[in-house]
Amino acid sequence: MIKVAVFSTKPYDQEYFDRFADKGQLQFTYFDSPLNKDTANLATGFEVICVFVNDKVDRETVSQLAELGVRLIALRCAGYNNVDLDAAKEKGIRLVRVPAYSPEAVAEHALALILTLNRKTHKAYNRVREGNFSLNKLMGFNLHRKTVGVIGTGKIGATFCRIMKGMGCKVLAFDLYPSQKLIEEGIQFGSIDEVFQQADIISLHCPLNPDTKHMINRESLSKMKQGIMIINTSRGALINTPDILEGLASKKVGFLGIDVYEQEENLFFKDLSEMIIEDDLILRLISYPNVLITSHQAYFTREAMEEITHTTIDNIREYADGEKLTNEVI
Ligand code: NAI
Repeated sequence: MIKVAVFSTKPYDQEYFDRFADKGQLQFTYFDSPLNKDTANLATGFEVICVFVNDKVDRETVSQLAELGVRLIALRCAGYNNVDLDAAKEKGIRLVRVPAYSPEAVAEHALALILTLNRKTHKAYNRVREGNFSLNKLMGFNLHRKTVGVIGTGKIGATFCRIMKGMGCKVLAFDLYPSQKLIEEGIQFGSIDEVFQQADIISLHCPLNPDTKHMINRESLSKMKQGIMIINTSRGALINTPDILEGLASKKVGFLGIDVYEQEENLFFKDLSEMIIEDDLILRLISYPNVLITSHQAYFTREAMEEITHTTIDNIREYADGEKLTNEVI
């Protein structure tokens, strides 16, 4: 029997693990608390831990986990930018993740952000409920024939390209490795500057790494069309927040839709409705009528949760059975 400590657990995580786990082989203990250097001692007595996007698995945390006897970290997400890989390797802790789960979930959420920002359905919903049937200030634009710039055409980006092509858009993509298959399907590839210059909407689907950190900044914004719509469902730190606030203030940025935010770990997934929020940047973002923020929910569909749970359980089972780890991050 392998004991697994699950960090940052929400009721829906527990529901899915309890539903799909083979109780004879794996025993899950759920902690609401996120994992970081101050909470790592909760992993006492566990060989395997399971973490999510905002758990902070830095060098200090890894070293504490190693001392407690943790041998495997199972990420129940795709990105692993929150883990110090070198530290884990040095301490002999192995790492597995869920490399692909329903790219449609994230790509469809990016479309939801675009349509809501553009057609202002959130405002219309509230207006009509209050008996206000006026159309003033609700005017949007046709997506048909607009140029959509896609940065990163992996699993999610490729799905998003196809969705936007289906909407009648011209899709202009940038990736370090342009996809021949997408080119054959009518997706155009160009340089990153061509995407910045030509797009009416830019959607980010590349991973966060030292090369992509703050790729949306004052300089890249200066190359974009006036009134650009920027969508980020990837990782918050792809955008330099003070720079995008400047772009919003100058009206260079016409719309901003984000499902991720650089400082999200102190906010997202929590109900802070009775608290004073001490993050001035997010408060300024929220104050703009043309900014739409969702709290890292792009992945959150029934289908994606099932795939995440199945793959995470399989990843841990492979470790328990001494098999090759299919989804190991090396
Ligand atoms: P993927 O690995 O299939 O694709 C990433 C693509 O980005 C690859 O084609 C790669 O060549 C490209 N790329 C790498 N560096 C680049 C650069 N400097 N410029 C342009 N392209 C670059 O990843 P996938 O599954 O499509 O996920 C993309 C990102 O979406 C993940 O890294 C993750 O951060 C984020 N994500 C967000 C979720 C959410 O709920 N908001 C859920 C799942 C993933």
